[in-house]
Formats: sequence, C-alpha cells, structure tokens
Amino acid sequence: MIIRYKKSFEKIAMGLLSFMPAEKDLKVLQQTIKQYEANENWQLFLWKEEEDIIGLIGIIFEDETSISIQHISVNPSHRHQGVGKAMVQAIKSQYTNKKIEANELTVGFLSKCMNMEENLNS
Ligand SMILES: CC(C)(COP(=O)(O)OP(=O)(O)OC[C@H]1O[C@@H](n2cnc3c(N)ncnc32)[C@H](O)[C@@H]1OP(=O)(O)O)[C@@H](O)C(=O)NCCC(=O)NCCS
Repeated sequence: MIIRYKKSFEKIAMGLLSFMPAEKDLKVLQQTIKQYEANENWQLFLWKEEEDIIGLIGIIFEDETSISIQHISVNPSHRHQGVGKAMVQAIKSQYTNKKIEANELTVGFLSKCMNMEENLNS
C-alpha cells in the first residue's frame, strides 16, 4: 500500500533513499529529504506491507501536465517481487491526468517497467 511521507518516517526514508547511487553522501541525503519536506512540488511516498516500510518513490510536479519520478528504491530484502513496479503503478493511478516521466536517475528502471507493461499487453 502506498502512503504519504511524514516526518516520523524520516529515518526509514533516508535509509531507503541511500540505495540510490546519487544519494550515498549523508549531506546530499539530508538536503534531499529537506526538499521533500519543504517544497510542495516535491512529494515523497512510501510502500508499506503489513507493518513494514519497504519502498520509497519520490516525484516532482514539473508543470501542469507532467510528473517526473526522481527517486525510487526498494529494501534489498524485498526486491524482485514487483514492489518497484507496483509503486510506479500506484503513482500512475493516483495522477491519471498527468504524463509520468523519468529523470536520469530513474530512467533505467522506468524503461524496464514500460517494457514489462508492453509485454503484458501484447
Ligand atoms: C530499481 C528498484 C527500485 C527495483 O525494485 P524492485 O522491487 O526489485 O522492482 P520489480 O520487482 O518491480 O522489478 C524488478 C526488475 O527490475 C529490474 N531492474 C532493477 N534495477 C534496474 C535498473 N536500474 N535498470 C533497469 N532495470 C532494473 C530488475 O532486473 C528486475 O528485472 P527481472 O525481474 O527481469 O530480473 C530496486 O532495484 C532498487 O531499489 N535499486 C536501488 C536504487 C536505484 O538504483 N534506483 C534507481 C533505479 S534506475
């Protein structure tokens, strides 16, 4: 289930964010979290299964029509079970009127998601 980030999830969110290659440095990580807390165009969501938070997806509202997925991360113990894809789907269904784009940090996995969808539809 996708849930909205709140301050009480800060530590777990930073742990998940740190799996992104560009977020290894603690200072960078703190700045990123600050942006999600302060900037209303930056929105962070977490993926909860039973009582555990195992995934994170962060988006930016680029303009009226598009959203960019700029962070996506799953706890290593829960990878390859479709959580990453489920988070992308959850964002898509929450913002059906917006075009969902990747940025340079997430394009690898998002392209893979698109391919998986095409294969399912064909
Ligand atoms: C990317 C990530 C979120 C995927 O989460 P997940 O829950 O394992 O994803 P799913 O189970 O829905 O999909 C798994 C598929 O995505 C593929 N995948 C994982 N990372 C990928 C990447 N960077 N580029 C392309 N495909 C990728 C896997 O190979 C797997 O394919 P397979 O099942 O054919 O082997 C997870 O691997 C992660 O947290 N990585 C570290 C953070 C990161 O680098 N994020 C940016 C990715 S561009």
